[in-house]
Amino acid sequence: ADPDPLQDFCVANLNASIFVNGFPCKPVPEVKSDDFFFNGLRKEGNITNVFGSNVTAGNVLVFPGLNALGISMNRVDFTPGGVNPPHIHPRATETGVVIKGRLLVGFMTTSNVLHSKVLKAGEMFVIPRGLVHFQRNVGKGKALVIAAFNSQLPGIVVLSFTLFASTPPIPNDVLTKAFQVDEKVISGIKSKFGS
Ligand code: GLV
Ligand code: MN
Repeated sequence: ADPDPLQDFCVANLNASIFVNGFPCKPVPEVKSDDFFFNGLRKEGNITNVFGSNVTAGNVLVFPGLNALGISMNRVDFTPGGVNPPHIHPRATETGVVIKGRLLVGFMTTSNVLHSKVLKAGEMFVIPRGLVHFQRNVGKGKALVIAAFNSQLPGIVVLSFTLFASTPPIPNDVLTKAFQVDEKVISGIKSKFGS
């Protein structure tokens, strides 16, 4: 989904003081082989949280060599029963492969049809750009998935946080109408996310 590159590479200068769509390039003489390699997906993320999952991003913010190339990856770790909660990537289609465990992967279309399947190691999924999706570890052990995106910075909108933990908060009367529940249900959910 990102624009096509106009040169071989444009290793991001993340500290530049000019602002463009993406990041300006490091001068070519300063580019090193290491700019094109990234070891940040080696380790399991911290999965001792309420969701029982952790996304470790391999995007342009941590891997500057991706800049202008329209691609990035994540690793997602799960405890047994762990959920990667419903979320959206505004700038990318996502594809992924299960490395370990058994994972229920699902997304909803703009017509509110749910497409889902339980995948095992070696099996792939695709999430069309911008659609709400989730994963749940339905196996007995931990699960691991490696995901790829056609954007250097796909963005992530986690619905739980967007709706119930924004700054400033969405007024309760918006949410009570939207979900057709009492205010105490809304404030109960908000309190779970620290707002
Ligand atoms: C999984 O859905 C991810 O966004 O990494
Ligand atoms: Mn995703």
